[in-house]
Amino acid sequence: MTEDAINIGGVDLADPYTYGAGMPFDSFRKLRECAPVAWHPYKDGPGFFALTGYDEVYAVSRDSATWSSEATAVYFDVPGPDAIADQRGVMMLTMDPPRHTALRALVSKGFRPRQVAKLNERITEIARDVVDSVIERGECDFVSDVAGALPSYVIAELLGIPLEDGYRLYELTEIMNTGLIGGSHAIRAGAEMFRYSTELVARKRADPCDDIATSLLHAEVDGQRLTEREFHFLFTLLINAGGDTTRNLVAGGACALMDHPEERAKLEADPSLLPTAVEEMLRYVSPVNAFFRTATKDTELGGVPVKEGDRVAMFYPAANRDEAHFVDPERFDVTRKPNPHLAFGGGGSHFCLGANLARVEAAALVSEVLSRMKNMELAGPVERMPSTLINGIHSMPVRFTRRQP
Ligand code: HEM
Repeated sequence: MTEDAINIGGVDLADPYTYGAGMPFDSFRKLRECAPVAWHPYKDGPGFFALTGYDEVYAVSRDSATWSSEATAVYFDVPGPDAIADQRGVMMLTMDPPRHTALRALVSKGFRPRQVAKLNERITEIARDVVDSVIERGECDFVSDVAGALPSYVIAELLGIPLEDGYRLYELTEIMNTGLIGGSHAIRAGAEMFRYSTELVARKRADPCDDIATSLLHAEVDGQRLTEREFHFLFTLLINAGGDTTRNLVAGGACALMDHPEERAKLEADPSLLPTAVEEMLRYVSPVNAFFRTATKDTELGGVPVKEGDRVAMFYPAANRDEAHFVDPERFDVTRKPNPHLAFGGGGSHFCLGANLARVEAAALVSEVLSRMKNMELAGPVERMPSTLINGIHSMPVRFTRRQP
């Protein structure tokens, strides 16, 4: 039998249970050492190449002519002919140029550093409110009460919807992104999301405001307005991409700080380290596990021949621990510099649009937590999300002492 990625790494990278037990960093290391481009079987289908090295993830991300996001979409499952689930060519993440270029130009207007800077003050206020809401209790579930609350409120603010609706939409994305819940729960959550975005279209058309939802509905791509279905996928993308990722960055980052008290002490003593600490959390946690691409022609990758139509999975947490690019990559180091991590993607046309926003959110929340929720420690088991998409923590009970005034 030829060696495939499961034999080499010792785990099935397509099984949500693998991640429910913790990120398989040892398997990623074995794969990087022996076969950074390794064939991986998948269900009854043709399988895919698992990319675990930095150079390959970087190269694929930056060549959208050879590597399509649209042909079979970017997730483990290739969407079937079902019109609701198939977002190829409709949603930005699963679209190729030239339409992707036009749509991205439109959406990115809302994410320029200047726009994000306008939100800064509001984000600091929201971070304070979030910590206020738990501080008297001395204990909480860090994921749902702290890390998940902020990004869901910020996205709500951006889209111009009530904050509590943002929180409900966050709950729905977690259900939709958790492999094991799957089935009817995920379908119901998707339907609720769809209903919400349909009502939102009607509301924003009747009552336009100064928010992204209104500008997306009124803007034109190639001389045409977005259809309701296109708007829905964009709305879902923003809620998903902006919520689940940032929540798990902050939750995973807080977990890393609790696991490394000496790094936490450094950061508490010198808050000017916050920017490098956030970059290190991005590298160390890597909230997105993998996105796929499909070869548009016969090519090769790291010396391995790849045929037109073959799929590759870019494992970002693996690339971010590549010894060839990071000194002592298993170490969590809040002073690490340079830190050319690929947590927001390897660059290129699909590079994360919300990177600036996510950095501002994480910095605001981590700073508020460190300065007020003192001596934070685990008060129960950390429950991970069994998801192939997100490196996620579902629940993390903590206790802490309130900072004395
Ligand atoms: C820690 C937080 C975040 C992480 C780790 C993250 C990660 C990523 C990654 C890996 C991609 C795909 C890159 C590629 O294919 O090359 C992506 C795309 C995207 N992200 Fe983020 N993201 C985060 C936060 C956000 C936020 C806060 C927003 C917006 C509110 C956002 C909006 C998007 C959008 C719209 C895309 C699609 C871009 C395109 O296809 O052109 N992300 N993100």
